[in-house]
Amino acid sequence: MKVGVILQASEISKHFVGVQALDRVQFELKRGEVHALVGENGAGKSTLIKIIAGIYLRDGGRIVFEDREVEFKNNIEARLSGIGMVPQEIQLVPKLSVAENIFMGLYPRTKYGFVRWKELYRRAYDIAKTFNIENLIGLHAEKLGTGYRQLIEILKALVFNAKIIAFDEPTAALSEEETKELFELIAKLKNDGISIIYVSHRLDEIFQIADRVTVYKDGMFVGTHKIKDVTKDMVVSMMVGRELNLYGEDNRTKGRTDKVVFEVRGLKRENSINDVSFQLCRGEILGLFGMVGSGRTETMMSVFGVDPLDEGEIFIAGEKVSIKSPIDAVKLGIGLVPENRIKQGVILRASVRNNVTLPFVRKLTKYGAINAKKELDIVRKYMDYLNIKARSESDLVNTLSGGNQQKVAIAKWLASKSDIIIFDEPTHGIDVGAKAEIYQLLRELSDEGKSIIMISSELTEVLNVCDRILVFRDGRIAHEFKENRDLTEEEVVQYALG
Ligand SMILES: Nc1ncnc2c1ncn2[C@@H]1O[C@H](COP(=O)(O)OP(=O)(O)OP(=O)(O)O)[C@@H](O)[C@H]1O
Ligand SMILES: [Mg+2]
Repeated sequence: MKVGVILQASEISKHFVGVQALDRVQFELKRGEVHALVGENGAGKSTLIKIIAGIYLRDGGRIVFEDREVEFKNNIEARLSGIGMVPQEIQLVPKLSVAENIFMGLYPRTKYGFVRWKELYRRAYDIAKTFNIENLIGLHAEKLGTGYRQLIEILKALVFNAKIIAFDEPTAALSEEETKELFELIAKLKNDGISIIYVSHRLDEIFQIADRVTVYKDGMFVGTHKIKDVTKDMVVSMMVGRELNLYGEDNRTKGRTDKVVFEVRGLKRENSINDVSFQLCRGEILGLFGMVGSGRTETMMSVFGVDPLDEGEIFIAGEKVSIKSPIDAVKLGIGLVPENRIKQGVILRASVRNNVTLPFVRKLTKYGAINAKKELDIVRKYMDYLNIKARSESDLVNTLSGGNQQKVAIAKWLASKSDIIIFDEPTHGIDVGAKAEIYQLLRELSDEGKSIIMISSELTEVLNVCDRILVFRDGRIAHEFKENRDLTEEEVVQYALG
């Protein structure tokens, strides 16, 4: 093995029923480097790091770790050898304490098999103290916010002297502040000589923290480069196999009209929504920009009937309506693609087909029987449209890659033909190729006369896609940009920060 290399994976293959997830790929990790792994949804990134972390067994290939060939039978063996992983979906046990979670599966025991609780808590305390969170170790994991939950996953690795930690899209659910803290933490880990594998769709982040980047496409190795030798455009074209114009040629919609189809007045909800009023026109794409916690998601969740409002009125096509639950909202022609699509947007144990047609299955049903052909046509159309990678529409959603699960949630609401569609962070966790397709789709929908509300924290996307922008801060609309023409990022951010 080359000097300075801590882990060398070569010719790794992995097959799932019907898919070659990885086809003889390589991956080299140097001691103390941050090595980014990128590729489109379904490229095989999560599969590779799960193989390295002992969660999946490989079908073929070699992994050399610290100069010896390893074949971990499970994740516990990998953790004990110093390889930890922070998964895409954090998996702490809610009703167990932080300390117990840190030692999950590996409680210290006496030779008779009794748990050494004192030792467990002492060691948890020591490791937690290095991050100044020793006061949290007795709390139930469910009491923690996302940032802390992620930190606990990291401690799960560090407590066994991790030499490698693999992160799978760690910032997908983090606020800006938490992301900053995570990057500081990664820098500290790197400083301590720990090697990091970093999977993300956010190229900005990769250019900020990675030393090298490896690209996979469709289960195959494309290349490894030093970050300073490549540009973002180069990485994107390696990922998608062609040049990509992310925002299309015409970045505004043609469909925008002045006809108000939806309006809210004086929405209030204790501690989160502070007198919000706005209108939405037919064919318009309205952007809701702001920091995490500024009230954008809260406002739209209340409008959609998920959370109750204390005060306020909602009008559809000029008529006052009452929305007490999401069912009411759907009946009125409103659709919502939630931010946390995997938790709220899809049923993991159902097929792609059932997920997509769920909101409107009644419309496809006559005399108690579903019109199967029609259902299939619709499902296939949207699978094709969003390029959902699955063998067939009967695949269970939990066998798809994370990004493809998200696309299923989006397909479901597109197919339901709602007139007003709310997208909460539509491109989170989605690869660049699919991002371009989603932007194009939003434009087409608005050209067809649909009205769209897009909640987003990504300013470039708001500036390139929306007709009009509302900036949220502290639960209220801090500013409205009536026309999205020649705005600069600074102009918009200034209102979001106050
Ligand atoms: N447990 C599984 N059963 C069946 N197929 C699977 C399983 N896990 C992954 N796959 C398939 O393997 C391929 C690679 O998936 P993987 O999760 O590694 O992609 P990824 O690069 O992490 O994508 P994303 O960016 O969407 O998270 C996909 O086609 C996926 O559907
Ligand atoms: Mg993944």
